[in-house]
Amino acid sequence: MQLEHYIGGRFLATEEEKWTSVLNPANGELLAEVPLATEVTVNEAVAQAKQAQQEWALVPAPKRAQYLYAIGMKMQEKKEHLATVLTKEMGKVIEEGRGEVQEGIDMAFYMAGEGRRLFGETTPSELSNKFAMSVRAPIGVVGLITPWNFPVAIATWKSFPAIVAGNTFVWKPATETPMMAYEMAKIFDEVGLPKGVANIVFGSGGEVGTALIEHPDVKVISFTGSTETGRKVASLGGQHLKKVSLEMGGKNAVIVMDDADLDLAVDGILWSAFGTAGQRCTACSRVIVHKDVKEELEQRLLEAMKQLSIGDGLDESVKVGPVINQKALEKIHYYVEEGQKEGARLLAGGRILTEQPYSQGHFYAPTLFTDVAPDARIAQEEIFGPVVSLIAVADLEEAIQVNNSVQYGLSSSIFTQDINSAFKAQRDLDTGIVYVNAGTTGAEIHLPFGGTKGTGNGHRDSGVAALDVYTEWKSVYIDYSGKLQRAQIDTE
Ligand code: UN1
Repeated sequence: MQLEHYIGGRFLATEEEKWTSVLNPANGELLAEVPLATEVTVNEAVAQAKQAQQEWALVPAPKRAQYLYAIGMKMQEKKEHLATVLTKEMGKVIEEGRGEVQEGIDMAFYMAGEGRRLFGETTPSELSNKFAMSVRAPIGVVGLITPWNFPVAIATWKSFPAIVAGNTFVWKPATETPMMAYEMAKIFDEVGLPKGVANIVFGSGGEVGTALIEHPDVKVISFTGSTETGRKVASLGGQHLKKVSLEMGGKNAVIVMDDADLDLAVDGILWSAFGTAGQRCTACSRVIVHKDVKEELEQRLLEAMKQLSIGDGLDESVKVGPVINQKALEKIHYYVEEGQKEGARLLAGGRILTEQPYSQGHFYAPTLFTDVAPDARIAQEEIFGPVVSLIAVADLEEAIQVNNSVQYGLSSSIFTQDINSAFKAQRDLDTGIVYVNAGTTGAEIHLPFGGTKGTGNGHRDSGVAALDVYTEWKSVYIDYSGKLQRAQIDTE
């Protein structure tokens, strides 16, 4: 199967482009060939998007929303197919694949609802016979750069608010997961989304990403990926005075207090740490545990980890799928070796799985470290794999301090039965998302998604907050007094 870009309502790829293969991370099977665009193709996509935007901005927002309802319905109709493609291409287990597609469907319906809201404000004027209001105005063409770990959900968090607000977009999906983007292109086409509103260009960050950021007609860049790349996106975007929304790394912790329901905490930790093979920005990679329950928690985690079946995510009984590629495997293993060198105690896992049936894929054994120093590299740096580090603390204050000691601030969680501890924690944990008695994953699409410190730059995906990324505030004053009225002066 050969994929094609989707530009101005047409599927196309040119001979002269380079191509790369999309491989199933569970077994190395060749799934598709994808073209890698050059700047010329990006320029064409931006030109199409720019032209389409002029008309699209004039379509009433409730009518724009009708397309989103249609997209949501189509995704619903194709849910099982989409989830299967997602699992084959990205590796997450099929149940999570369905969950991710559902996240996109939810976003379609939620943002479609915004078509009848997009609220601004009406306010009194300080002068008589004068009217004042603010409205959300579209910005123009937006550039979307999305990661492989949530190939469809994250794209919907960005593209759906963008189009309901009257923008058009050019989307560069990760090169590892172009098939989901291709599926979305087919859906945009099938529902008759006007040509040029949605454009998808495959290619590398260096080539396509850079061309998008530098293009004078792309007014907004929304990026999800590593902090390292995000920093480059922001500085390049800054030079071109772009509005840049960044969603980057995490080093999320679950805090387990001495009064916690330990069985519940184990369930929450397992799901957050080893779901998606630890490859969520929101994944739990640290467990900060009260010293009085540390040993008990270690034992229960070890016991529960024995039940984690590893394998091809298409097998419904599998709980942990492969990681994305060989490079990821090597990075994970590098950190595991570093952890051991730094004196952390390895309780489980810690190895690349090479035996059958894993030999053709990229599988890492779910890994548990204990006695990890809060400042150890494995407790500070993002590993993006199924590796979790236990850190013992004396009390809630220390737990919060350890949680906040990392450069990231996406998600955090506390297991406790004490309402005072829960409220204190939600106030003091320096993360954009806080959970009480649940793991660090599981954000819902109608709330803001994003984080503090090295995780973001103050913007949010999802929720109404996402509209702030894709709109300009326009303040409108209508003076019907028939005379010059000077603000601040003629007010007596
Ligand atoms: C991500 O890992 O980048 O909250 C997104 C969650 C999911 C989204 C994760 N709803 O874990």
